[in-house]
Amino acid sequence: MALRLVTAGESHGPALVAIVSGLPAGLLLDRDAVDADLRRRQEGYGRSPRQRIESDAVEVLAGLRHGRTLGTPLALVVGNRDHENWKWGMSPWPPEGEPAGKGSRPVTLPRPGHADLAGALKYGLTDVRDALERASARHTAAIVAAGAVAKALLRELGVSVEGRVLGDDLEQRVDDARANRDTVGGVVEVRARGVPPGLGSYATKDDRLDARLAATLMGTQAVKGVEIGDGFALAEQRGSEAHDEIHRDERGLYRETNHAGGIEGGVSNGEEIVVRAAMKPLPTLMRPLASVDLHTGETGEALVERSDTAAVEALAVVAEACVAWELAAAARDKFGGDALVDFVAAHHAYLERIDWQPRTR
Ligand SMILES: Cc1cc2nc3c(=O)[nH]c(=O)nc-3n(C[C@H](O)[C@H](O)[C@H](O)COP(=O)(O)O)c2cc1C
Repeated sequence: MALRLVTAGESHGPALVAIVSGLPAGLLLDRDAVDADLRRRQEGYGRSPRQRIESDAVEVLAGLRHGRTLGTPLALVVGNRDHENWKWGMSPWPPEGEPAGKGSRPVTLPRPGHADLAGALKYGLTDVRDALERASARHTAAIVAAGAVAKALLRELGVSVEGRVLGDDLEQRVDDARANRDTVGGVVEVRARGVPPGLGSYATKDDRLDARLAATLMGTQAVKGVEIGDGFALAEQRGSEAHDEIHRDERGLYRETNHAGGIEGGVSNGEEIVVRAAMKPLPTLMRPLASVDLHTGETGEALVERSDTAAVEALAVVAEACVAWELAAAARDKFGGDALVDFVAAHHAYLERIDWQPRTR
């Protein structure tokens, strides 16, 4: 049963929507846990006042009864409270009455570093807003909601996933940047514990777990680099120091090092999964960069849309959701099952067969 995710929604439209299919029946979801992840995404040092306007909470329209999945498509909705101020500007249907509120004047000055110019050219847009609304990282709220569901599924297998920011100077860097009306990026790391060997496959590129993790993280706004395990540093090392030798004790096969970040040949190897993503500095500056007005052809300053100074802590939450999603999808591929008990039983039987046990190390 393939786990699939489709999302829809614009940044200032009525809502973000995630449809998750391929879940087993009988998985208990905790509304508070989903909302807690949505809240974590909104927090973090350097975020803008928009996060105070939006107080995200999930609604479920389908696929759940009394908190348990039905094995049918799960429809998650995260409303955009800010849509109230964009009713005319972001009305899905032709708006009635005179233009009013935000988004009622076309955006013609694309922001460097955003999808604005490429999107306007690609789709033949006269209002850059038509591109930026969907390209916006507001979309990641839907990803985080789906990721919370994936984490609930993984928990049934004893797998936990956690994202964090690397480095301890974020607050200082944000303060300095804000004082100069500038922005910063950073690096986040996601670790997954309890992942059994055998998720993903070397059979095709699309099946490779490393490729899937790289794609989901690289597919996230502002991520410009991804590494698995020691990643780029491995290029500098000798083979004798770069690989993780195989050992065995009473609990089964294990490694004492984890340079590979828990993946060899596109397959999880039973060690902790370790993935890092590099985030570029946010492209909307309060001190706008140079741009060109697409209507007049004249030089000008890029649009200033309310914006964060940094969103690295938010990215850590989003990256956690992305990694959880891919691991859950790979686990569904491997263990299948229409009912949750079948899925869990298949995992259990597999662990009985192989010479491996999860470690807390
Ligand atoms: C959680 C999160 C929040 C973001 N917030 C902002 C923001 O407030 N302002 C901004 O200019 N970019 C923000 N971005 C980054 C842009 O969405 C992204 O750089 C832009 O869409 C262009 O895509 P690209 O950087 O992947 O090429 C954010 C990204 C993430 C992951």
